[in-house]
Amino acid sequence: MKTHTQPHTNGSSLLHHPPKHIVKKANVKDYEKTYARSIEDREGFWADEAKKLKWYKKWQQVLDDSEKPFYKWFTGGKINIVGNAIDRHLETHRRNKLAMIWEGEPGDVKTLSYHALNREVSKFANVLKSMGVKKGEIVTIYMPQIPELPIAMLACAKIGAMHSVVYGGFSVEALAGRISDANSRVLVTADGGWRRGKITDLKTIANEAMDRSPTIEVCISVKRTGQEVHMENDRDFWYHDLMQLPIAAPRCDTEVMDSEDPLFILFTSGTTGKPKGLVHTHGGYSVYTSSTHRNVFDIKDEDRWWCAADPGWITGHSYLVYGPLINGATIMMYEGAPNHPYPNRWWNMIEKYGITILYTSPTAIRGLMRFGEQWPRRHDLSSLRLLGSVGEPINPEAWRWYHEVIGRGECPIMDTWWQTETGGMMIAPLPVTPLKPGSATKPLFGIEVAVVDDNANEVQPGEEGKLVIKAPWPGMARTIFGDPDRYVDTYWKQYEEKGWYKAGDSARIDEDGYIWIIGRIDDVIKVSGYRLGTAEVESALVSHSDVSEAAAIALPHEIKGNAIHTYVILKAGVHGSKKLEEELKKHVSSEMGPIAKPENVHFLESLPKTRSGKIMRRVLKARAMGLDEGDLSTLED
Ligand code: WT7
Repeated sequence: MKTHTQPHTNGSSLLHHPPKHIVKKANVKDYEKTYARSIEDREGFWADEAKKLKWYKKWQQVLDDSEKPFYKWFTGGKINIVGNAIDRHLETHRRNKLAMIWEGEPGDVKTLSYHALNREVSKFANVLKSMGVKKGEIVTIYMPQIPELPIAMLACAKIGAMHSVVYGGFSVEALAGRISDANSRVLVTADGGWRRGKITDLKTIANEAMDRSPTIEVCISVKRTGQEVHMENDRDFWYHDLMQLPIAAPRCDTEVMDSEDPLFILFTSGTTGKPKGLVHTHGGYSVYTSSTHRNVFDIKDEDRWWCAADPGWITGHSYLVYGPLINGATIMMYEGAPNHPYPNRWWNMIEKYGITILYTSPTAIRGLMRFGEQWPRRHDLSSLRLLGSVGEPINPEAWRWYHEVIGRGECPIMDTWWQTETGGMMIAPLPVTPLKPGSATKPLFGIEVAVVDDNANEVQPGEEGKLVIKAPWPGMARTIFGDPDRYVDTYWKQYEEKGWYKAGDSARIDEDGYIWIIGRIDDVIKVSGYRLGTAEVESALVSHSDVSEAAAIALPHEIKGNAIHTYVILKAGVHGSKKLEEELKKHVSSEMGPIAKPENVHFLESLPKTRSGKIMRRVLKARAMGLDEGDLSTLED
C-alpha cells in the first residue's frame, strides 16, 4: 500500500542538481565510473575499502561463498571494530579531537575527546571483565540516549563480548523476551531517562523484565534521573560506584577478533512470530559502515555529524556509533524529545554546535514541520552542508520543507534505503547525484539490485515489483541468532536458484534507473520509521485476559507515516466499551512500549480468515480504507 503520493512520471522535471561547491569538494566525484568498477571487480573494490582500516592480520580471502547463503567476508583477517573506532585515532591528531558532543534533555552538556572516550570505554571494559564477562557472551543494554550507551557498546566490543541493545522505548515484554533469547547474564541499564520533561522509568521496567527472564545475574545501572529505584543485593550495582573502584583501570587491551566473529545481535520485527536477532560481525560490518558513511555523507575531518536516531536501532548502531567513529568524526547525540521545551530544540543545537550534517527520519521532519517554519527561521543553520533521511519513503512535502527551510535550498538530501539486515546503506545518492524528491536514487558501490516478480523476472521500468539484492556485501547480517533456518527461509528461499536476497519491500525503477521504494510487502509495519510486526502487537493484545483473538494492520497517518489499527474478538461474556478500548491500548503500550500503542481497538464478532485460519489483514485494510476488498476466494465464509 502506498502511504504517500509519489509522482508517477520518472520525476525528471523535479531533478535537483547539487550545488557546485559540494561537487568540487566531494570525496567521490564520479559515481558511474566507481560503480562500474565496483561491480566488475567486486572483491577488488571491497579489498580496497578494507585496506583503509586497521587490521591486526590481513585477510586471506575477501569473500568466501562456499556455504551460501552463509557468506563470509575477509576470512583469515584479524580485527576489532574498537581498534578502528578508537585505538587508531589515539596515534593521530584526532586523539584530542572531540569524539562526542552530548546534550541531555534538561540542557546538561558533556563532551568526550577520543582520548576521553578511550578512557571511559577501557574503564567500563575492565568493569565488565571483573563481572566475568567473556568473549562471545551477550550483554544486554537497555538505556536512554546518554553517553554511557555507546560507551557500554564499545566496551563490550573491545573485550570481544557481543551486545544486544534493546531500545529504551520498549517495555517489559519486549525487554524480557530479548534478554531470554540472548541468554544474557549481564544487563546494563539506567535508573531512567528524560523525555518531554518526564522521567521514563527504565529501572522499574528492567526489574520487571528480570523477574520474567531470570538469566540476569548482574545488573549495572547508570544514575541519570536520580529517583528512588529498587536495587537488589548481590545483583544490582551502580555504574558510578563500579567506575571508581581499582578494577576500573584506565587501560584495557583490545581483544584481537576474527573478521567473522560476531559483534552484536539486534532484534528486529519480522513477518511472523517473535522478533529475530540479526547477527553482525567485526570485519565486514566495520568495512561496510565506514565505507558507506564516508561516501554517502562525504565525511571530512572537520565535520560535526548528527545522526538523530536512537542507538537502540540499527541506524544508531551503524551511523551514530560505529561508522562515524571509525571515520574519526565528531558525533552529536541528544537525549530527549525534538520539541522540548520548544519546537526549536534541534535547530538551536545545530546552531550552537555548528552541526554540518543532519541524518534523521521523515517522521521527525513531518513532526517538526507541523510547528511551522518560524521555529527553524529563528536560528542560524548555515553550518549545515548535507542532510539525510532514513526509515521510510520521504514524501515530497516533507522533502521540500527539509530542503528549503532547513537546508536553505543548498543542502542535498541523502535519502538512504537500507535495513537492519543490510547493516548499512544500500540505495542512496552521493552528494554529487542529481536528486528526485522521494527516490533513494541508485545502488551504492558493490550493490546490485533489481525489481522483480515472483518468478524472478525483472519488471518493466515504472512497474511495481519486489526488491531483491543480487550479490552479497560485507555489511550483510550473517544469520538470525539461534535460528539459521529462519534466516534462509526469510531472505533467501524465494529466489534460491538465483542466489538473490529478498528485501521484503516493493519498489519500482524509473526510466532513468532511479529507485522508488514503495513499502513493505509483508506484515511488518513502519510506525514513525520504527519497525514493528503485526504479530507482536497481536500477541500483546491476546495476552490481555479479555481478548480471545486479535488482528493489527497499518493505515496511513499524516505524521507517523503509518499507524496501528487493531481488531479484537473478546472472550465470551465480555462486552466492548470505550473503557475497555482505552485499557487495551494501554495494555499494548505497557507490554511493548509507547510506539506500539494502537490508534484504536475495534471490537468484532469475527475476523476475516482464510480457510486455513490465517487472518486476512488485507481485507481489514481494504474495508477500513473503503477500498475494493479484492480477491476473496480464499475467505472462510
Ligand atoms: C525498512 C527497514 C535502515 C535503518 C532504519 C530502518 C524501510 C528504510 C527507507 C527509505 C523507503 C525505507 C523499508 C525497509 N526503509 N529506509 N530511505 N525509503 N523506505 O531499518 O527498521 O530494519 O527497517 O525500512 O521498508 O525494509 P529497519
